[in-house]
Amino acid sequence: MSVLLRTSPDPEESRTRANLKAEAEAPQTEGVVSRLPADRSAIPQASRPLDVVVCGLGYVGATMAACLLGQGHRIVGIDMNPEKTAALARGESPIVEPGVDHLLAVGHAEGRLSGSDDIGECVTKADIVLVCVGTPSRPDGSLDLSQVVKVCHDLADAIRCRPDGAQPILCVFRSTMLPGSMEETVIPTLARAVGEAPGSRYEVAYNPEFLRESTAVADYFSPPKIVVGERQPGASQRLLGLYDGIEAAWSEVPLAVAEMVKYVDNSFHALKVAFANEVGRIATCLAIDPQAVMDIFVSDTKLNISPYYLKPGGPFGGSCLPKDVRALNAFLRERALTAPVLENILASNAVHKEFLAERVRSAAPEARRVLLLGLSFKSKTDDLRESPLVDLAGRLVAAGYELEIYDPDLRREKLLGANREFALQHLPDLSQLLISDVSEAALRVDVAVVGKPMPQALAVLPPELPVVNVHLL
Ligand SMILES: NC(=O)c1ccc[n+]([C@@H]2O[C@H](COP(=O)([O-])OP(=O)(O)OC[C@H]3O[C@@H](n4cnc5c(N)ncnc54)[C@H](O)[C@@H]3O)[C@@H](O)[C@H]2O)c1
Repeated sequence: MSVLLRTSPDPEESRTRANLKAEAEAPQTEGVVSRLPADRSAIPQASRPLDVVVCGLGYVGATMAACLLGQGHRIVGIDMNPEKTAALARGESPIVEPGVDHLLAVGHAEGRLSGSDDIGECVTKADIVLVCVGTPSRPDGSLDLSQVVKVCHDLADAIRCRPDGAQPILCVFRSTMLPGSMEETVIPTLARAVGEAPGSRYEVAYNPEFLRESTAVADYFSPPKIVVGERQPGASQRLLGLYDGIEAAWSEVPLAVAEMVKYVDNSFHALKVAFANEVGRIATCLAIDPQAVMDIFVSDTKLNISPYYLKPGGPFGGSCLPKDVRALNAFLRERALTAPVLENILASNAVHKEFLAERVRSAAPEARRVLLLGLSFKSKTDDLRESPLVDLAGRLVAAGYELEIYDPDLRREKLLGANREFALQHLPDLSQLLISDVSEAALRVDVAVVGKPMPQALAVLPPELPVVNVHLL
């Protein structure tokens, strides 16, 4: 195989050297950042030091306590494990994490750190509570929220004891929780236990944590982003200035969006690792240098490491992606190579096609006449090969819908060869379905389905005509 010949005379050697070089470089880069906590001037100082209760002193809570101390806040750390609370009360870290010991020791020496096992007393005078307790997996993989629920009850007891007329205490949940957990579990539990809904005596927010263990302090001061979920716009009051001086893109969003972002991030990170390792296994088995392949892959910031292809909408299609994924999978099967991520890409795309068809059917269950805007696999091309819109049109016809199709990218006279074959296979009556006057057709149909961006066609649709967008969810 030519690729084999083009690798170094000893590919194993060169791979090992490349790996060692990458490993040697990584800690140095992180090392520069992890010196940050020793240099107090590099830490943004709080303009208004707050009384902060950190509940749960694991990897997230202990790191937060340390970083907030570094910024000048006053911290009380709480944990159900008395050894962790005692360690914090002595100014020692309950976890191993670069920089945390130092920041806790300095904060302790300055009298701004204490530990407690009584949430009631400290919440009485706190401005903000950060809930960082664990959310482990149950044996079946589902999320165990029992630690969060227990904290809600403890917190509620303490909130009820706050003096009348005190500022509402801001309860910020940082534990990773599935979408809906705040609305369906945390808020109802707190509301029942406090005896009133959030808004007056207390407010809630969801602020997912994006730090990575081993570089957690550096990540805290230089986060990839700050996401705050709130009950209503402004309710989190920009978290009372907790992140002032920390530069990062800031998003204030509904609670469930913030909850979902964390799972999307971690799933994507896991997918990246699994994908890279599948490439690595395949390349290794073929005696191709995996690092050489992935170095080129990641250097492409136009299509690969970029927002491109990451907007939920239409399935992939066209003449290349389905064909090439199929061919790679056949190639792997022939060689008995297992790559579950790559093997399931086409199945995922098929599920998405059915999802979009069902979206059209359920958006207008009674509709019999549908106008489909777009048929080729993307704008400005007439390529119909494996176009998901041809698939959608075929499904609608098969389901008994009266279909009309408008696509300004198509020319009837140029529908030739494989293009024509593919279209006719799915839509034998294609020539009768294609229309050229969209505004006239719009008057005959019950629903319009937008398959590609088509602003000019959309502009002539009657305002009362229901529209289902399948190119952007
Ligand atoms: N570790 C990470 O790198 C990381 C990063 C981002 C988000 N998260 C998420 O943050 C949360 C915390 O993670 P962690 O790794 O710090 O967990 P952890 O298990 O290390 O720490 C949780 C702590 O909460 C304490 N706790 C449990 N119930 C309590 C209660 N009722 N009152 C007081 N303390 C209580 C436990 O004793 C423990 O010390 C999880 O939801 C996790 O998924 C973790």
